[in-house]
Amino acid sequence: MIKTELLDPDEAGITRAAGLLADGALVAFPTETVYGLGADARNNLAVARIFEAKGRPRFNPLIVHVASADKARAYVAWSDQAEALADAFWPGPLTLVLPLRADAGLSDLVTAGLPSLAIRVPAHPLAHKLLGAFGGPVAAPSANPSGRISPTTAQHVIAGLDGRIAAILDGGPCPVGLESTIIGLTGAPRLLRHGGVPVEQIAALLGADPVQDTAPQTLIAPGQMESHYAPAARLRLNATAARPDEVMLGFGEVECNLNLSPLADLTEAAANLFPHLHSLDALGMAGIAVAPIPERGLGRAINDRLKRAAAPRP
Ligand code: TXA
Ligand code: MG
Repeated sequence: MIKTELLDPDEAGITRAAGLLADGALVAFPTETVYGLGADARNNLAVARIFEAKGRPRFNPLIVHVASADKARAYVAWSDQAEALADAFWPGPLTLVLPLRADAGLSDLVTAGLPSLAIRVPAHPLAHKLLGAFGGPVAAPSANPSGRISPTTAQHVIAGLDGRIAAILDGGPCPVGLESTIIGLTGAPRLLRHGGVPVEQIAALLGADPVQDTAPQTLIAPGQMESHYAPAARLRLNATAARPDEVMLGFGEVECNLNLSPLADLTEAAANLFPHLHSLDALGMAGIAVAPIPERGLGRAINDRLKRAAAPRP
């Protein structure tokens, strides 16, 4: 066990967080999507510590976070499609998977030995300041123990990883609340994970639907595993009311314990999804009944996470 420092979102906190990253330590930090568990992406030992802290069963490839699209070009082979998507959605909740440059200089653990790299420019002002102060590439998965719900507050991170990481930069709740959308650009555009940028917006920009990655070939991303983002309670989807041993997660006008969005706003629902699941799970009931969510815009990413949370556990 180490003593996990809770850092304030000020100059001193950012300087301390950047110094810890430079020393090869792990720092959880807020992004607009969820809290990330950051390490220097060039430092093998630091990246290995991420897997150790999360208790990840195996080495899955990680997303590298950089301060700008210009910086991203040092690590990946850029393309016109990458430029168009980065122009439209960076900084923001979009991850691009592009061919890894031979001279990238990143730890092999970041890519799990793949010839491609997942990279994004986060929009959160604190993430941006931290990346600026550190100056290098930061590998960061979501800051939760493997298989559990992603953290959208510093308190969620503490609940999952206290004593296992050097520090947490506390930036309050994450505004988007869902992980980034992942688009593969190593061939024809592929949707690898629904997320914070609705796929409709990406299709509109590309002028075509990205290929849906239903049967991942070379790798199973953790975000693609059936049972993931799991609360301790059993989830029952498309429910109209709670049973006696359940609490109810609502959407729109419905009687419930917590409501994702009483006015049925999908952006608000996305931001509330993980915090509400954390809160309901803490009540210790056997089950969580979840109201139906429309399958459009951010509703697709919400339903994707709900389906995985409801899937049978391995
Ligand atoms: O919003 C987010 O993306 C958050 C914040 C912290 O940035 N990060 C996040 O990381 O969700 P993580 O590790 O929980 O999910 C990363 C996903 C995984 O499903 C991983 O397999 C996939 O990205 N991935 C990483 N590198 C890849 C690659 N080269 N090809 C395909 N998928 C890749
Ligand atoms: Mg994750």
